[in-house]
Amino acid sequence: MIAPAHDVHILGTGSYTPSHVLTNQDLEAMVDTSDEWIVTRTGIRERRIADPDTPSSFLASEAAKRALDDAGVSAKELDQIIVGTVTGDRIFPSTGCSVQDILGASNAYAFDVSAACAGWMYGLQIGRDAVRAGTAKTVLVIGVESLSKIVNWTDRNTCVLFGDAAGAVVLRSRGEPGGILATRVHSDGSLVHLLEMPAGGSLMPPSHLTVERQLHVIHMSGNDVFKHAVRAMQAVALEVLEAAGKKAEDLALLVPHQANLRIIEATAHRLGVPMEKVFVNLDKYGNTSSASIPLALDEARRSGRIQKGDLVAMVTFGGGFTWAGAVVQF
Ligand code: UT7
Repeated sequence: MIAPAHDVHILGTGSYTPSHVLTNQDLEAMVDTSDEWIVTRTGIRERRIADPDTPSSFLASEAAKRALDDAGVSAKELDQIIVGTVTGDRIFPSTGCSVQDILGASNAYAFDVSAACAGWMYGLQIGRDAVRAGTAKTVLVIGVESLSKIVNWTDRNTCVLFGDAAGAVVLRSRGEPGGILATRVHSDGSLVHLLEMPAGGSLMPPSHLTVERQLHVIHMSGNDVFKHAVRAMQAVALEVLEAAGKKAEDLALLVPHQANLRIIEATAHRLGVPMEKVFVNLDKYGNTSSASIPLALDEARRSGRIQKGDLVAMVTFGGGFTWAGAVVQF
């Protein structure tokens, strides 16, 4: 059965964060930084760090179990599992396949999406389209990152920003209007070098030299990413609101990518959305890339910030350069 255009709903949400907390004070002892600098420049106070031997598939499947439980859906009912990540368990096979195995989702097919911080949002559109097209009835979309594993812990420019987490949603048609009203995704490949992990792939296979030169960690042009981020978040928010036939003032909540409080405030200001209507949790988790929005969405729902019928917009940006937005009626 092909679902009507506006009938693919988020049935449930879930998230998981590792228990180990790394505070700004802890970082002061590791690199030349200060709690004051990190808080004023980013808004981040602490982040969660997974154990060295805990893979992304574990974080992802814990979030998935909570989303399935919230949706009242069993793993066997899943047709499609999409994992947005740039820190999967291995280069191949996909982390999606490992999650499928852990969940026992034997009737699904699984794959990963590589779109950096926009990975989960890309997955949301792909999953929504599959339900609409009738090629899947029930879809699990996960965003997961173990960024602590690819951060240079001696580089103060990047190591204070990132954290580990997972978030997940279950999508299905509910036979009533609402749900995911519109999505928009974009990329601009001319900006790949703004934010990348240079080595480890076919471009620069791993060698002693790539390890010595610290090429298996995040390299970022922070200022450039900042400027593109604000422009992209505003543009895609306006574009996706228009596609949904809505205005910024109709929003009950804006859930932006949690990278930097100054980027979030600038975006909200440009859209005319007051900060009371903007969900922020980056103070606790830092930037968790693809996990950032589903983690924030889950916290917003469970804390009562999203009620049935509420109109919610989500906007994100990341390496690639990628950016995306979605408008959802809960
Ligand atoms: O999901 C997408 C991922 N990326 C992002 O969202 C990043 C977007 N960019 C940003 O959030 C900001 O550009 C940063 C937080 C990364 C940096 O903030 P900024 O206000 O753009 O600072 P800056 O890079 O211009 O650096 C200002 C100064 C520099 O010192 P000098 O050259 O002025 O003497 C840096 O060396 O701050 C210094 N600095 C630090 N100082 C203390 C950079 N990192 C630190 C640090 N502690 N951790």
